[in-house]
Amino acid sequence: MSTNHHEHKHHLKIDDEWKIVRAIVGNFVHCTRHPFAVDESPTSIIHNDREDVVFLAPFLPLHLNHILAVCEEGKIRYFGPFTPFAWLKTVEIVTLPPYAFCCPGFIDLHHHAPQYAYAGTATDRLLTGPGGWLEEYAFPAERSLRDNPEQTRHLFQKVVQATLQRGTTSVVYFGTLDVVPCQQLVDAVLQYGQRAWVGKVCMDRNAPADYCQPTQQNLTETQQLVQYIYETAGKRSTSPRLPLVFPLITPRFIPTCTPELLSALGDYARSEDLHITTHISESIDEVQWSQALEGGAEDATILHQHGLLTRQSILAHGVWLSDTAAQLLRETQSAIAHCPLSNFFFANQSLPCRKLLEQGNLVGLGTDIAGGYNPSMLSACRCAVIASRTLDHQRQSLTNQHEQSSSASSTLLDYRHAFYMATLGGAYALNMQNHLGNFEIGKDFDAVVLTVQSNIFVCPRRDTMADIFQKLCNLADDRNVSHVFVAGKQVIGSS
Ligand code: GUN
Ligand code: FE
Repeated sequence: MSTNHHEHKHHLKIDDEWKIVRAIVGNFVHCTRHPFAVDESPTSIIHNDREDVVFLAPFLPLHLNHILAVCEEGKIRYFGPFTPFAWLKTVEIVTLPPYAFCCPGFIDLHHHAPQYAYAGTATDRLLTGPGGWLEEYAFPAERSLRDNPEQTRHLFQKVVQATLQRGTTSVVYFGTLDVVPCQQLVDAVLQYGQRAWVGKVCMDRNAPADYCQPTQQNLTETQQLVQYIYETAGKRSTSPRLPLVFPLITPRFIPTCTPELLSALGDYARSEDLHITTHISESIDEVQWSQALEGGAEDATILHQHGLLTRQSILAHGVWLSDTAAQLLRETQSAIAHCPLSNFFFANQSLPCRKLLEQGNLVGLGTDIAGGYNPSMLSACRCAVIASRTLDHQRQSLTNQHEQSSSASSTLLDYRHAFYMATLGGAYALNMQNHLGNFEIGKDFDAVVLTVQSNIFVCPRRDTMADIFQKLCNLADDRNVSHVFVAGKQVIGSS
């Protein structure tokens, strides 16, 4: 396989315009494209004539003993085989140990920051209805932040630290109904230097009287949060650097939002060109409730009617999307946040993720704290692989029952597809593929270094570098996150 397009394309010219401030030396791994972009199937490792690049799949090269240079603006200016450049003398160099891989920072497309308070509990209910998970756990936990600014600040600091320590550099955060805690979430993200989309949750029906707002107040407080984000983090169109925090239009889901509210939010999102997030076709109970309220229409149709399906929309779950709804998402280039762990508790089924990826839907991964209890994106990757295997088991048992060979195509995903969804797939989902998701020149340097520690056994004579990377994907936890960088700045680890 030719590697020409991966190498030596970008020779570094020392150019005063781009002052190099930091270089990382070691092993790198990133996705260069969509796993199913062309009809090569990523079934086996491809060895090529270059010893310093090993392809785990056509879309996933490991770059051994490479160097990546970051400029003052936090962007990648060079990425190629290690060469002892003269300019290395004048910059800070981070040399990685031999059993470490610098990966693009993980992108969590769905996280309810206020729910981190009870993550790891509340695994015993249906999502909706009287006495359901939302009513019993989610709403009270979110509402309680209204009266406790000190506790809220502490909680959000812990959320940002927990995600950064697990290598998550970008997060799509649901806040609370109240705007003040959302502002505190923005503060925590900026304090620790994470990248985030932060939304005020909107609800104007079917929510408790003391955790529901009139339609207009939802809009006013949303606008207030957007302004706060522009003031504290900068506005994308006016600053040369990519801001760390972006606004997010966040209707919770159709059952708690009137058509008037959805329409007003859709109009506002369009007028300001904002990202949008919500839940879509999540579970059987949710789908039934939505349809009862909206005359049998599907979630996707309703959202589309109100202008909420755009290239900047991230829709959580989508487990019960019909084929026409999935097609509508493709046409509008709206993305799906696959939250496999949460789906095991609420969704009554797993997302047909491979099929959606093959059909060309934009799909990334989310933790769905606290519907899913684990804030780690590596855990979300493993759950996505397991979820795909449960679908395969269902397919096999159906085939056996009918005693005929199944013509259905594979549902299986492996760690390489999951790694794509956690990195470049997330960047595409956010329409940020020109800025985030891999180590292309000109992108922001958002990265996590995964390093083998004593919790992972390496057999030096048996394990290839590809094996070691796979071990990290399947076994690493926060002990193995040795460095995290956001916009070129080190935010975790001592250099
Ligand atoms: N649907 C509406 N709100 C929520 C929430 O907070 N979590 C999950 N998983 N689904 C929802
Ligand atoms: Fe959720």
